[in-house]
Amino acid sequence: MAIGYDGARRLFKLDTTNTTYMIALSPEGYVGHVYYGRRIYGEGDTRLLRMEEEPYTPSVNEGEKASFMDFFPMEYPTGGVSDYRESCLEVRASSGGPGCELLYADHKIYKGKKKLAGLPASFGTEDETETLDLYCEDGVLGLKVILSYAVFEKENVIARSVRAENSGGETLRLEKVYSACIDMDNEDYEMLTLCGSWARERHIQTRSLAYGKQSVASAKGESSHQQHPFMALVSPGCTQEQGEAYAMHFVYSGNFLAQTELTQFDAVRMVMGISPEGFCWVLRPGEVFQAPEVILTYSDRGLGQMTRSYHDFYRNHLIRSPYRDRKRPILINNWEATYFAFDTEKLLEIARVAGSAGIEMFVMDDGWFGKRNEPKGSLGDWVVNEEKLKGGLSCLVEQINALGMDFGIWFEPEMISPDSDLYRAHPDWAIRLPGRTPVQSRNQYVLDLSRPDVREYVYESVAAILRSANITYVKWDMNRQLSDLGSAWLAADSQGELSHRFVLGLYELQEKLVTEFPDLLLENCSSGGGRFDPGMLYYSPQIWCSDDTDAIERLVIQEGTALVYPLSAIGAHVSACPNHMLKRSTPFETRGHVALAGTFGYELDVTKLDHEELAMIPVQVELYHKYNDLIRSGDYYRIASYRENHSHDCWAVAAKDGSEVLLTWVQVFARPNVHSRRVRLQGFDPKSRYRLEGTGQIYSGEMLLYGGFLMENLQGDYQSRLLHFVRV
Ligand code: GLA
Repeated sequence: MAIGYDGARRLFKLDTTNTTYMIALSPEGYVGHVYYGRRIYGEGDTRLLRMEEEPYTPSVNEGEKASFMDFFPMEYPTGGVSDYRESCLEVRASSGGPGCELLYADHKIYKGKKKLAGLPASFGTEDETETLDLYCEDGVLGLKVILSYAVFEKENVIARSVRAENSGGETLRLEKVYSACIDMDNEDYEMLTLCGSWARERHIQTRSLAYGKQSVASAKGESSHQQHPFMALVSPGCTQEQGEAYAMHFVYSGNFLAQTELTQFDAVRMVMGISPEGFCWVLRPGEVFQAPEVILTYSDRGLGQMTRSYHDFYRNHLIRSPYRDRKRPILINNWEATYFAFDTEKLLEIARVAGSAGIEMFVMDDGWFGKRNEPKGSLGDWVVNEEKLKGGLSCLVEQINALGMDFGIWFEPEMISPDSDLYRAHPDWAIRLPGRTPVQSRNQYVLDLSRPDVREYVYESVAAILRSANITYVKWDMNRQLSDLGSAWLAADSQGELSHRFVLGLYELQEKLVTEFPDLLLENCSSGGGRFDPGMLYYSPQIWCSDDTDAIERLVIQEGTALVYPLSAIGAHVSACPNHMLKRSTPFETRGHVALAGTFGYELDVTKLDHEELAMIPVQVELYHKYNDLIRSGDYYRIASYRENHSHDCWAVAAKDGSEVLLTWVQVFARPNVHSRRVRLQGFDPKSRYRLEGTGQIYSGEMLLYGGFLMENLQGDYQSRLLHFVRV
């Protein structure tokens, strides 16, 4: 049993294989956070709540209730009643005053896990997970709040979510509804987040905590390039193999906030949820608001263990696609090959060469519809441009299929161009504020997905194309952020719901798509990796990681992305050199090795490659087929980081049974007059012996782990090696 309730102590104990989470009730019914950390095998106790110390609890010391409220470690703090730290819930009654106080009412413990209405969420069978629902109430507001904790023992994960129900007679305004909180004593924790920009997504950043609040957030209507809905508190000096990490990751694709507050009493309160900026949800009597889920994990064995818990969890309990456990077809995308300048003949020319080199799918990117010959106009007019594609789409698809290749296509369904037939017919379908011309970005506006008629139009446009030809893959793009947040459809007092309703609309569309086309391989994208989050992962097993396809820049981007996401989710392609963005030239082989640590594909004009490079494609195709099962399902170990050492990068993927390890080494900069580099490896079974493929050399696992491997000094910059160790 993963969840136990000690009625005498009013203590809930949530156990996973390596962790314990404890919640207890004060005599009044405040829900306190007792402990999260290393597994406690015996019984728990409530002393860590400090209820026997001053200021004591309100029933003992009513006169100092404010001191209690501002100090007690809360599971789900509320605003307005003297807990002055960051609250998780802000409610305004129709009288106008803010204030909410939640007390325990009841609880349920059950096997399995419920779905979250309208939202992506993790799932598990009755054997895999057990859930605690804590029912809390504010009797004054007539508000019920259900705090859910689904415990996944094997992956050391707790999935938390919150549901608010208006059971009173008054309309309530929810001004903030976060999804999770951890309140605990500080132990010099540092805050680790993933941040960046377009073409520089998810770089790892660590900073020390200062008194007050420190946060990362997105107000862009998507999870964003700039900040990622992830936060970890790590012990000082936490490494891949040692130290503690408390991590939260948000299963949501819109505005978020992740924050740590260091309080006057040296406690930390880490919270995560939908960003309250601009958010206001009107909850009428009888209505329910479901907040998205936060995935919590704790590791006392460094960041590496945290990473592997997330990878296993997402692979087992979040990704649903039938492609989850399958090799994805190796694709070639024409974006960096042609941009908008293509026609059927050009695409077929690329496909013929690609197909004969072993590439398995052709993906037609932006520019096939309306009058779209530049990134301007036609978004929303999802009609094939027959000037470019003579004979139509099905004619192209048939010819691609005749080459033995699958066919995929690009859409940007959430958008509308000012220069489009759709906008001319429905200007009110764009998100805009009354009386203002909406801001353009990439010459486009965003569709108001809160509207059912818009969603219907969008869905039918995409589905009609998919029904019209043999299309097995869709790249779903989103190339601008939301602004001018007004909806011509929502009532005046519901305008604060637009950003969240937009995300719910997007989820509804993708849910419909994967339901009607269950075998479709969906890849989400947002100007590269602007909406790479666990919410999107629920619909698409892979997400385009970044528009930056330079292999060296990708080392840092993919390191940060793989900190939490399995390699099978990371869209990665071999592109042309000099790289279009950086003008840097890297060896074709290195580009291949870096892309193999992701979904693997190509994005270049293969008809322009010289013989030598072209001849390397079948070699890389073979590597993909040889190693992808291992890369997709194995344990990931980060061994060295170019971001930290400015010299080289190294990671390994190890089979779960210890039978093989694939090591990737990238020497970014060559150095003169050096010997080989001793590298202590990870991922090997210390009791096994391994043969390094292609050499006949035998190594003991423990020597590789504790002694190290001598990595030869490679000649030249940007060189790489794949080393495959097989147990003997
Ligand atoms: C975005 C994507 C690219 C490409 C272009 C097309 O930038 O990230 O891969 O699809 O849009 O306009």
